[in-house]
Amino acid sequence: MRLFFALWPEGEIARQLARAASRLNLESHSRLVAPRNYHLTLAFVGEVADPKLAVLQQIGRSLLATRFTFACDALEFWRRSQVIVAAAQESAPGLIDLSARLNSAIGLSRETPRAHVTLARKVTQASVRQAMSPIAWRATSFSLIRSDTGGAESAYTVLDTWPLLDEVENR
Ligand code: 2AM
Repeated sequence: MRLFFALWPEGEIARQLARAASRLNLESHSRLVAPRNYHLTLAFVGEVADPKLAVLQQIGRSLLATRFTFACDALEFWRRSQVIVAAAQESAPGLIDLSARLNSAIGLSRETPRAHVTLARKVTQASVRQAMSPIAWRATSFSLIRSDTGGAESAYTVLDTWPLLDEVENR
């Protein structure tokens, strides 16, 4: 199984991302990612054997992190991976913290790419610089996802979702 932890945008956030994607000026061989597949990878686990699933679920269950909001406000062309992504220009502490804690729990210390949602693949040339209306993304949960890469487009299954906690002032 190929697994990763991610934020899985739904509702208005997914709609706003889809709106930004629909305005991209793409070459004919490029492919838009289906909105149902949008995700922001927090920690990429990779290929694991079945028994590891329970370990990862335990990591998700026991990780206590608070909710946070970040601005997804930049459309970028990443030439090497041939994608257009929606990314955050400024790193949000809550997002960095959640991603760092998950990566450390799964035993990875390597740099993960900057937080992003891939909107289009197989992009070899980005025409003009394209602007997007900033999306205020409130993260209230995170998920463990399985990706099946066999088909024309990867299929994703949300295996488990855990809530992020409300932040309250200490008394
Ligand atoms: P991306 O395509 O949006 O960058 C599941 O495979 C997801 O994890 C992919 O959709 C990819 O997100 C991300 N991913 C794949 N390989 C990765 C790696 N080596 N490091 C970090 N993220 C990776």
